[in-house]
Order: sequence, then structure tokens, then C-alpha cells
Amino acid sequence: MAGNWKMYKTPAETHSFFEAFKPLVAAAVNCDIVLCPPFPNLHAAVKETEGSNIGIGAQNLYWGKEGAVTGEVSGHMLQAIGCQYVIIAHSERRQYFGENEPDVVRKVEAALQYGLTPIVCVGERLEERESGQTEAVLGAMFDGGLAPLTPEQFAKTVIAYEPVWAIGTGKTATPQIAADAHRFLRGKVAEKFGAEAAAAARILYGGSVKPDNVAHLMAQEDIDGALVGGASLDPKVFAAVVNY
Ligand code: PGA
Repeated sequence: MAGNWKMYKTPAETHSFFEAFKPLVAAAVNCDIVLCPPFPNLHAAVKETEGSNIGIGAQNLYWGKEGAVTGEVSGHMLQAIGCQYVIIAHSERRQYFGENEPDVVRKVEAALQYGLTPIVCVGERLEERESGQTEAVLGAMFDGGLAPLTPEQFAKTVIAYEPVWAIGTGKTATPQIAADAHRFLRGKVAEKFGAEAAAAARILYGGSVKPDNVAHLMAQEDIDGALVGGASLDPKVFAAVVNY
């Protein structure tokens, strides 16, 4: 169960969040819990969660260890401050910063090189769904961003299916719509990496996940977890998602 804070919270707010959140999820043993704050809060978040059952991730990284790349942050730096995860190619990064499938491959490789678990986002836009393109779009994202990985690299990579029309809109995909997309993606994994890799792959659903819809989504066979935006900002609300 991963929370994506996007561009919210200061270090002081990060502290308050974890103070309230940690005891609420201390008994959760059946899932990995991850929070992805903005870069300036990562160090505070790692310190706040030391020795707990919560892992910390970044929302982006640049490939390469260091260099003249103004404004970017490397996997090496994220590893050095204690991050364990990184979100890659969130739809907002695809939309506003032009991230594409070759970037996904470079970023996944960089994440793994520095011991970070990549959470790679894929998902169709509303007009793509309405014009019957969902599987073509997901298939192309898989073929371009994930299929080029080696089986060893893929085995350490988490996929997040996030239909763009469901992000921040309050319009969750119905469990059936989400289940269909997850089944399709798992089928792509099976075709490329084999049945065992497909069974082991973690595919999260993201898009308006809330305490009152998480149980129905998680009941779908191919949904292994959630990537939660808005509902991860409040400690009580995100704890309710984690503890559903
Ligand atoms: P949301 O965002 O839960 O606010 O819809 C999900 C995401 O963008 O990861």
C-alpha cells in the first residue's frame, strides 16, 4: 500500500503525519507500507520511520549517478539518504514533463542499480478509454517501458495501473474495469517473462482509492495493492486504507 503525496507537505507536516500514522499501522503485517513525499521531506521521512514497518520512496529520479544535470536527483542520492522505493512515470510526469517509455527503461535501470524498488505507472487517458484504445495503450506502455527489462530487473519492479481519468477525480475505476486492466497487464507479463513471473508480479491499482472502496478493489484477484494520492495525505485516512 503506497502513498504518493505529490507536491504536498513541508518537513514539519511530514513529522506530524508520521507521529500520528506510525501507531495506527504498527500492527499491519500483511502488506508493505510505503510513503512517497516530495524530495525536501525525504530525509525527515526516513528518520521518522527508522525501525518501523514503513518504507520511504521518492516520486521521481534521474538516471546517472551525478553530473551537470541542473534540477535533477539521482538514485545514488536517494539510496544514500535511505529511500527504498521510487515512483516512475506517474501520469502527471508523462503529461507535464513529457516522460515516455525510453525514460521508463532508463529510470528503472537506474533505480535498480541503486537498490531502489521502482513503481512504474501505466494507464490510459479518458479519450483513449472512450475510443476503445485501453489495451493498445497499456500494451504499448508495457512493450516500451517494461518488456525491455531483463527477467531479473522485471522481478524487482512493481507496476501501478492508474487510469488517468480516475486520478484525483473521485471517479474510481469500478472493480471490474480495474480487474480487466490488471488481468490484461498480467497476461502481458506472462507472454514476455513467463507464468511464474506473472504470478509473482505486483500490480497496484491507483486512482481515487479511499477507505470505502479499497476492500472491493483489493478483492479482485489481480489487484495486489494500491497507489494512493489524495487519501494518503491524512494519517487516519491512509491508515484506514492500509488496515482495510
Ligand atoms: P488519487 O491519486 O488517489 O488522488 O486519485 C493517485 C495517484 O495519482 O497516484
